[in-house]
Amino acid sequence: MKNVLVTGGAGFIGSNFVRYALKHRADWKLHVLDLLTYAGNLENLADLIQAGQIQFIKADIADQPQIDAIFAQQRFDLTFHFAAESHVDRSILSATEFVRTNVLGTQVLLNALQAHTPKQRFVHVSTDEVYGSLGPTGRFLETTPLDPTSPYSASKAASDLMVLAAVKTHGLNAVVTRCTNNYGPYQFPEKFIPLFITNALEDLALPLYGDGMNVRSWLHVDDHAAALLAVGDRGRAGEVYNIGGAEESEIPNLIVAQQILKALKKPESLIKRVADRPAHDRRYAIDYTKINQELGWSPRIAFAQGLESTIRWFLDNKGWWRNIKTGEYLKYYERNYQGR
Ligand code: NAD
Ligand code: TYD
Repeated sequence: MKNVLVTGGAGFIGSNFVRYALKHRADWKLHVLDLLTYAGNLENLADLIQAGQIQFIKADIADQPQIDAIFAQQRFDLTFHFAAESHVDRSILSATEFVRTNVLGTQVLLNALQAHTPKQRFVHVSTDEVYGSLGPTGRFLETTPLDPTSPYSASKAASDLMVLAAVKTHGLNAVVTRCTNNYGPYQFPEKFIPLFITNALEDLALPLYGDGMNVRSWLHVDDHAAALLAVGDRGRAGEVYNIGGAEESEIPNLIVAQQILKALKKPESLIKRVADRPAHDRRYAIDYTKINQELGWSPRIAFAQGLESTIRWFLDNKGWWRNIKTGEYLKYYERNYQGR
């Protein structure tokens, strides 16, 4: 049995990763560590916790004594580090928490790793946003210079560099992954796709930034999870692996908005043009040749198919996102788990 730590496992990608890993790694015991910020939601994992399939630890990655105590008590064979402040618009409003969680929090984990289990694999889950913005052509390579534009992407770039420095300086067994925009079940409805789906379902306006022609390369969260398992197993320490959607999933926001409205049989008049995000990155696209050639990974879920199943999930789980929109989900931990 391998003890596997998943930080940020109550968030969107972390919770999907936990479900994916349970299906594909029978010999793993999963420990989810999460602070349950506004973005962490135990409802994402409730069935797994109740069934005893995973262990949940409420903790703050930026709290060194707390993290040290956890690492002293439990030896982790492998860590997947998702915990972060993840929303660009929030980082524009206030950047401090992004530095605390994304930079300091990552360093705290590296310190604990170095002190307790320096040879164990650490997968640092990062983003292609660290490369900045592309013009109409070209793709990000692992060698593309870092040029982040938002406080979010700057804090992720800083954390990536701390991880790579820890490999060089202290010989830690860490790997960095940089993935394009994810979508799928359990995505917090402040992000583009779930916000637009849930607003459309409630006949609310879809706030489209600027001219709506910013391009994102969309990857279904299960494809991301598969890539992370491959990197955890066979990625080389000190390396960066780009993970991204196929060319067919590189789509301007306006088109995605129209696809969502069409699938839900809602009028395009719901689209409301709003002021652009400051320093709004124009286009992201990734070259995933390295992970494809070294580890045999490529995306499997076509965007049309993934968007359809994601829309279906939001239709079937109205209680989940309505609890978020009313703030009810914040009481879930208190009601069900506190004191256990
Ligand atoms: P999310 O915001 O849905 O989840 C983040 C989780 O981290 C939450 O459960 C939150 O409670 C937890 N957390 C925050 N601060 C913490 C702290 N101090 N201590 C412990 N836990 C804390 O984010 P997500 O979209 O699931 O993204 C997960 C990771 O993947 C992030 O590192 C993000 O940068 C990266 N990433 C995201 C995308 C994307 O499209 N969403 C793409 C590429 C990379
Ligand atoms: P988002 O989901 O915030 O991801 P990121 O900015 O990290 O790529 O946004 C995806 C795209 O959608 C981005 O170009 C900004 C745009 N967007 C809107 O047009 N309206 C919105 O309300 C949001 C949240 C995003």
